[in-house]
Amino acid sequence: MPCLASLMQGLSQFKLPSEVMTHTGPTRLETQLQHSGLAEFNPKTQSAPVALPSMRTSTVRFASMEALDEALSDWARGERVATYGRAGMDTHAALERVFCQLEGAQRGFLAPSGLSAVTLAFLALLNTGDHVIVADCAYGPVRRLDQTVLRRLGIEVSYCPATPDQMASQLRPNTRMVYVESPGSLLFEMLDIPALAQFSREHKLVLATDNTWGSGYVYRPLDLGVDVSVVAGTKYVGGHSDLMLGAVMVNDPELVRRVGETHYAMGYSISADDAWLALRGVRTLPIRMREHARNALQVCEFLASRPETVRLYHPAWPQDPGHTLWQRDCRGSNGMLSVELALNNEQARRFVNALKLYGIGYSWGGFESLVELVDHSALAFHSYWTATDNAVVRLHIGLESIDDLIADLSQALDKAKA
Ligand SMILES: Cc1ncc(COP(=O)(O)O)c(C=O)c1O
Repeated sequence: MPCLASLMQGLSQFKLPSEVMTHTGPTRLETQLQHSGLAEFNPKTQSAPVALPSMRTSTVRFASMEALDEALSDWARGERVATYGRAGMDTHAALERVFCQLEGAQRGFLAPSGLSAVTLAFLALLNTGDHVIVADCAYGPVRRLDQTVLRRLGIEVSYCPATPDQMASQLRPNTRMVYVESPGSLLFEMLDIPALAQFSREHKLVLATDNTWGSGYVYRPLDLGVDVSVVAGTKYVGGHSDLMLGAVMVNDPELVRRVGETHYAMGYSISADDAWLALRGVRTLPIRMREHARNALQVCEFLASRPETVRLYHPAWPQDPGHTLWQRDCRGSNGMLSVELALNNEQARRFVNALKLYGIGYSWGGFESLVELVDHSALAFHSYWTATDNAVVRLHIGLESIDDLIADLSQALDKAKA
């Protein structure tokens, strides 16, 4: 088993974030996150509050028709101009810039939840009669989107393991898009994103991915050749379990146009207060993420020492099959892991009920630890899952003391078989 010191060394050897040129020279993402979204100086007083206020308004007023004309012509040229509240004001614009910095994107479009951002991507990129190939490890509710709205619109969906070979076998003359999630939902299966990007380019398909796991800080799919990155800001970007948020991030001008026009037509809009909360939360993303990742590795180490543990699913764990891809493509990890335990359903329920510090709940990415007893019917869709009767438990490892978190797991495991 790898020793903790070497695991931690692995985490500290992450590649440095890519440099980005600003007017003061190159700065790193950690720096940008502290200097973005500050209030502008007042031209008269040459002073400004540090924090940008939550700019709540339903509309915008103009001093003259000429000012409105100028705003409309800027908008027609593709600039981000607000002539009505739905487009979002400075607070929203600052958050869009933060998402662009995180993801290395030219443009970002905000949505009121992660799932609505997924929906926006599908509706913007697909037409009636099109076919899309979806990774079988994608976030479960994508299947609900397929079975309801996409089916009604005449958009066909196939699911398969997310490798170029498997996807090639699903190609149809009307295939237009590949939609994946890396690492995959529930079992954190690492995908070879550069290989999928090459496959998509060869077949002239748009490659979209859910990047909620990486949230732009530890994984940047657009840099690896993906065309569209979708992020549930509800998770690590917000980071405090107090808001719902999504974003669709793009580089290519034609994709910017398509996502932008659908975003506008569908009336996607988020509250200024949620944008403000996300801006506030994201400043600590780097330190939160590092701490979640450190704690999660220590939990892996503890669980690996327990006789009940059959398998760990966490790409930063050296024995995870995706570890090499993770080392190649990611610059860090997070607090998510799943563990297969040699417990039957009744014992697993007793284990979960005995946990005192892990809330029983579905989300992740906040400051707190959470536990989910994963339903086998949800795992059945994942080709990565070798079906057994063992319990699978997904943990979000929060920012509590790692000693307390491990002690809690230990006492709960002891009770599971009692
Ligand atoms: C991977 C992933 N993508 C998207 C979503 C949807 O985000 P939201 O809950 O903000 O709609 C979730 C939510 O759990 C998720 O886990």
